[in-house]
Amino acid sequence: MPTIRATDAAVTPDVLVIGLSKDPKSKELRIHSAGLKLNVSSLLDALGEMGATGSPDEVVKLPGETSKLLVTTGLGSSSSAEQFTEETLRRAAGAAARALLGQTAATFALPHNDASGFNAIAEGALLGSYAFDEFRGSTKAERKKPLSKLEIFSKSVPAKDSKSILARAEIVARYTHLIRDLVNTPPSHLTPASFSERFRPLAKKLGLTVEILNEVQLKKSGYGGIIGVGQGSANPPRLLHISYRPKNSKRKSLPRYAFVGKGITFDTGGLALKPAQGMEAMKSDMSGAAAVSAAILAIAELQIPIELDAWAPLAENMVSDTATRPSDIITIYGGKTVEVLNPDAEGRLVLADALVRAAEVGNKNGKLAGVVDVATLTGAQVVALGTRTSAVMTNNEEFRERFMKSVSRSGEQFWPMPLPEELRASLDSPVADIANIGERMGGMLVAGLFLKDFVSPELPWLHLDIAGPAYNEAKPHGYTSVGGTGVALRTLIALAEDAAAL
Ligand code: BES
Ligand code: MN
Ligand code: ZN
Repeated sequence: MPTIRATDAAVTPDVLVIGLSKDPKSKELRIHSAGLKLNVSSLLDALGEMGATGSPDEVVKLPGETSKLLVTTGLGSSSSAEQFTEETLRRAAGAAARALLGQTAATFALPHNDASGFNAIAEGALLGSYAFDEFRGSTKAERKKPLSKLEIFSKSVPAKDSKSILARAEIVARYTHLIRDLVNTPPSHLTPASFSERFRPLAKKLGLTVEILNEVQLKKSGYGGIIGVGQGSANPPRLLHISYRPKNSKRKSLPRYAFVGKGITFDTGGLALKPAQGMEAMKSDMSGAAAVSAAILAIAELQIPIELDAWAPLAENMVSDTATRPSDIITIYGGKTVEVLNPDAEGRLVLADALVRAAEVGNKNGKLAGVVDVATLTGAQVVALGTRTSAVMTNNEEFRERFMKSVSRSGEQFWPMPLPEELRASLDSPVADIANIGERMGGMLVAGLFLKDFVSPELPWLHLDIAGPAYNEAKPHGYTSVGGTGVALRTLIALAEDAAAL
């Protein structure tokens, strides 16, 4: 992670990053440097000659006058009166940081008038400063490293405010990078056991409680979903449970939430084996588990006053003589039986176990205010919403409305999806309480309806399907690198903050 600090005097930095936009009417380019004095007219001439457009993800590097290197990052089209959205700033800062791999230090002078704009620039610059070279051998030395020193130029945010904003942004970015690292780590090096063991020291250091159930304990306690999915693999399943109870909080009773994340360290599809192409990206099938486990660490480190439990049911969905067969019947924690018609619909099975357990623990000496599950659950999510917009489904409209407010603060993209009752009948099984697949059309909603069966109607519940957005197989963009993205973390943190402020 780079270090980051604020400055109100950017004197001859090595690298200076400024914003570039285009006026939609006059088509003129405009420089935005947060009030930092520059020789704008000669700069605009040069940029015009170079054919710069100021569009998002366009980064132009020029020799600087007051800096060694002057870098413009595109803010898109905007009339002079218009303000840039936080997400525009976050992406522009991120694109610049990515383009500056190989450099050491940079000063970001991007337009903002308040603390939230300043925060977005800081987050974007930090999030863009990422590389994953852990598994490089002979090519490691030649890889360019991310920036190690960031400076955010601001005249509008006083030093006492900028300190806490930057501290929070650093935490957000550090845990986003942790998720990305975990998602990018291949299943040869990330198993249910090693995933959970990686979190133990991190959680302990923050004073959180960690419990890791192994395959023997899971079997004995009746976690038929996690066992059923994991039983075909030589790498046995785990249930990771991290618990956060704020210490010296002034308030007597704090709202209690639970996060549950799908943790399939690799999804071959099991005996419903995926074709090679569909399997390539399936090391990312633990993105939900990584998101909720990182989120609880971030929330604890930020000392947000809520009680929180994070649950990560972890298994490897493999093919072998011990793998679950289509038509096998398993018993989910709590007693509901499932006919496993398709072993590739495995995420809902491990989540069902964890959702039931999360509600049981959450409602012990208290009451859960809400549960949120996060999962790379369906290919249908990607078909419906594409690779950059996640879906949110719920049994409680009010909870979802609160969630969407947190989304507007985090800058992530989520879209509400329905859970139409009439689709539920397609999950009826002739032999068990429910089948794990139903109607093919609306597959994302059917998966959501399956999960809904394992949540009490009185418990406010959100289901986040992040199948597309969790893993970037296309080109890098904004602050998003190739591979794991860390999606959902910022919104989970925002949701926790907003819940604490209720
Ligand atoms: N992990 C996949 C979903 C997925 C697909 C995530 C593409 C990311 C990108 C999930 O376990 C799965 O295989 N779902 C099936 C469900 C079907 C068998 C009902 C799917 O979506 O095809
Ligand atoms: Mn699957
Ligand atoms: Zn899966």
